[in-house]
Amino acid sequence: MSWVVDSSLTYCQKFCINVLKCGPIPRHVAFIMDGNRRFATKKHVEKAEGHTKGFDKLAECLQWCMEFGIKEATVYAFSIENFKRSKEEVDTLMRLAREKFKVLFEEKEKLMEEGVCIRVIGNMDLLPDDIKENIAKTMLLTKNNKTVFLNVAFAYTSRDEISNSVKTVVQGVKDNKITINDINKELLKKCLYTNLSPDPDILIRTSGEVRLSDFLLWQSTNTQIYFADVLWPEFTVWHLMACIFKYQRSYYNIEKFKEYNNNVRCKNSYISEFVEGVHRERLELLENYVK
Ligand code: FPP
Ligand code: MG
Repeated sequence: MSWVVDSSLTYCQKFCINVLKCGPIPRHVAFIMDGNRRFATKKHVEKAEGHTKGFDKLAECLQWCMEFGIKEATVYAFSIENFKRSKEEVDTLMRLAREKFKVLFEEKEKLMEEGVCIRVIGNMDLLPDDIKENIAKTMLLTKNNKTVFLNVAFAYTSRDEISNSVKTVVQGVKDNKITINDINKELLKKCLYTNLSPDPDILIRTSGEVRLSDFLLWQSTNTQIYFADVLWPEFTVWHLMACIFKYQRSYYNIEKFKEYNNNVRCKNSYISEFVEGVHRERLELLENYVK
C-alpha cells in the first residue's frame, strides 16, 4: 500500500467532518500508533502483519487529516527503544521502513503536486545507509513544500532529541559562536529536530496505554492529549472525529495557555547566524547521505 490513498469515507462521514470543520481545526496533530502486535495476536496473524496493517492505517489516517484540513501530522513510527525488541521484529520493522520510504520517494510527483513536505525526525545515525538515503532524498526534494507537513519520528525518542539539542548548543559555546548566557528554552527549542514545526495541538495515543513513551515531551507542554481505547489498526475516522470534537469543546481554554512563540526571533543576530548554521549543517548531512 502506498502513503497516498484515495478517500474511503462514506457520505455520512464526510458530512460529519464538514460539520466539525465549522469549528476550530487543530493545525498540528501527533499520533502514537500503538497496538499493532496486540492486533496481530487478536487476529491470529504474525506480528509483521500487525505492523503492515499499522502502516495501512497510517496512510488512511493521513487522508482523513487532509479531509479535515489539518496541515501537519507527526507520527511515532519507530522509537529508539524499539531497537531492544527481538532481532526478528527489528528486522521486520526495518524491512517495512525500507519498502515504505522507497515507495514514498517514488511517489515524488504526487508529493510535489500536493505540496507535501516530508521530514523524518530522529537519530539517523542509527539507521542503515539505504534507508537513510531514501529518507534524505525525500526530505531534500520536498523541503520547500508548504501545503501539508508530515513528520515521521523514526529512531526517535524525545530525550535523545533534547540531548542532541544540548550537545549542539554546547558545541556552539565551545566554538565561540554563542555564549553560555544565550542558552535558554527558545535556543534549545530551535535546535530540536522539530525546530520548523509548531507544537502539536493534539496528541492521540491508541491502544489504551496512558503514557507518552518519550514522544515530543518538550513540544507537548500545552498539547491536548487523548488516549483512545482502540488498537491502532482498528482506529477509525470516528475516533479522530471524537478527538477533534473534544478539542473544540476545550479550545478556548487551551488557547490561552499556548505560547505563541513557536517562531520567536533570536535576540541577537549572531544567535540567528548560529541557528541558521545548525540548520545548514543538518541539510548538508542529508546531502551526504545521498550517493
Ligand atoms: C506500536 O505497536 C507500533 C510500532 C512500534 C511500529 C509503528 C509502525 C507503523 C504503524 C508502521 C509505520 C511504518 C513506517 C515506515 C512509517 P506495538 O508494536 O508496540 O504493538 P503492541 O503495543 O500491541 O505491543
Ligand atoms: Mg506498544
